[in-house]
Amino acid sequence: MAIAIRVHSTGAPEVMQLESMELAAPGPGEVCLEQTSIGVNPLDVSQRKGAVPIPLPSGLGLEGAGRVTAVGAGVSSVQVGDRVAYATGPLGAYASARLFPADRLVRLPDTLSNDAAAAVLFKGITAQYLLKTTGQVRPGSTVLVYGAAGALGQLLCAWARHLGAQVLGVVSKPASVARAEASGCHAVFVFDAQTLASQVAQATQGRKVDVVYDPIGRDTFAASLDCLRPRGLMVSFGATSGLPPAVEVGVLNAKGSLFLTRPSLAAHTASAEEYQSRARDVLDAVASGILTPQIWKSYALADAALAHADLEHGRSQGAIILNP
Ligand SMILES: NC(=O)c1ccc[n+]([C@@H]2O[C@H](COP(=O)([O-])OP(=O)(O)OC[C@H]3O[C@@H](n4cnc5c(N)ncnc54)[C@H](OP(=O)(O)O)[C@@H]3O)[C@@H](O)[C@H]2O)c1
Repeated sequence: MAIAIRVHSTGAPEVMQLESMELAAPGPGEVCLEQTSIGVNPLDVSQRKGAVPIPLPSGLGLEGAGRVTAVGAGVSSVQVGDRVAYATGPLGAYASARLFPADRLVRLPDTLSNDAAAAVLFKGITAQYLLKTTGQVRPGSTVLVYGAAGALGQLLCAWARHLGAQVLGVVSKPASVARAEASGCHAVFVFDAQTLASQVAQATQGRKVDVVYDPIGRDTFAASLDCLRPRGLMVSFGATSGLPPAVEVGVLNAKGSLFLTRPSLAAHTASAEEYQSRARDVLDAVASGILTPQIWKSYALADAALAHADLEHGRSQGAIILNP
């Protein structure tokens, strides 16, 4: 018998209900996992609220870690007893045990705890594709990272700095500056739409940045475009303050032949090969000290609503995990 969070309708955190369920035996290509650690991400909140539609009723959650307790036919990549983690679907990570496709599991090294894996894998793979595929950040690149004190931003800044970039961070309040600095930023700005572009110009000797990483969306999109050098890349990848506005494409021409993309983790991990290769890069980055998994708060699975409320109301200061 397992316990799992299920949603039968979308809405406030209270729509998440803790239910008992029988697990079937794993089918071909599947394993059964006993989970000890579950990562909480803003996408979970969007799906629970209905801002990102999911078929109902549904489980929730896209990131977990635990131990393989049974394997289905044809599974050879993992065996019973292996410690593993995953990021991405199928939905249903908020559970004490679950079935999961074997080819989307990542074997964990002895040096990485289940809790740390659940804090770093989803956000780490996101940072990996944003830096290495989307932005192609290299020595000498200059990047502007919003949410630099957040769970993902801390990893993004640390990795960008390791790659040799000049990293400028943006936070929403003074209390977050020290955390952004500790994550590797060379300079940190408290967001002000009126002054950000000139602060960025000053910090880059008038050149402005090669890449803006903006997950904030509605409140920051216009200011972000003004922080880019000619032919710079605007990466809009979240909606913390609401969806970014519709874009008149002529604006990209007028502001210096800018590039614009709205990337998703799903499109960068669609094949098992690509997903596994990015995950390996994250585990290597942790092993070599480029990334340090940090947990801001752990909640019991039954308290998932409290975790969502923290994330939704901007109270969190890093990664949140759930423990069944
Ligand atoms: N597209 C993808 O592939 C993908 C994948 C993963 C995550 N995401 C997105 O990435 C974002 C961050 O995720 P997360 O897990 O790091 O969430 P998080 O821990 O809640 O971080 C969000 C951060 O945004 C900051 N913030 C809010 N308003 C701001 C503003 N006006 N200017 C600068 N910073 C501001 C907050 O900083 P303060 O501390 O300063 O308030 C907070 O630290 C979310 O929007 C998420 O949906 C996208």
